[in-house]
Amino acid sequence: MTVNTKDSKDMVKTVDLIIDEFHAKKEELIPILMKVSQELGHISTPALEQISERMHIPQSQVYSVASFYRLIYTKSTGRHVIKFCESAPCHVAGGREVWNAIQKELKVKPGETSADGKWTLTTTSCLGVCAVGPVMMVDEDIYGNLRPDQLTDILGKYE
Ligand code: FES
Repeated sequence: MTVNTKDSKDMVKTVDLIIDEFHAKKEELIPILMKVSQELGHISTPALEQISERMHIPQSQVYSVASFYRLIYTKSTGRHVIKFCESAPCHVAGGREVWNAIQKELKVKPGETSADGKWTLTTTSCLGVCAVGPVMMVDEDIYGNLRPDQLTDILGKYE
């Protein structure tokens, strides 16, 4: 692994600290990946290599676990991540209209990041608040009872 910039040194240190926090236990791979993804924005290839080396788990296995979970990002994301609930109860509550409106408002397709690096748009399965569907998460904030005409105000809160 090549480490020659301040950012990459910080990355190495952050990953090391997280692995140490979980005592490098193989059974803690998922929480380790989730925390690295949260702290660094995504699991970069060097981070994946470092996790693999330190935990003695093949890179292919680390990648396969990381890419399986929606809350673990293997690609860099925008400054804000929208997770829109695509499960049936939200869908029948009007989710499709809101989902289409978000894509139109942000000019971003599902799974992509906006050209200005501000937004990443993804879907998620049930967020556990179906009674107030349609529902989306913006970063750590949950919004329910969504209507297309609310989107400009909600999204306008984020810099
Ligand atoms: S189905 Fe959307 S929150 Fe449960």
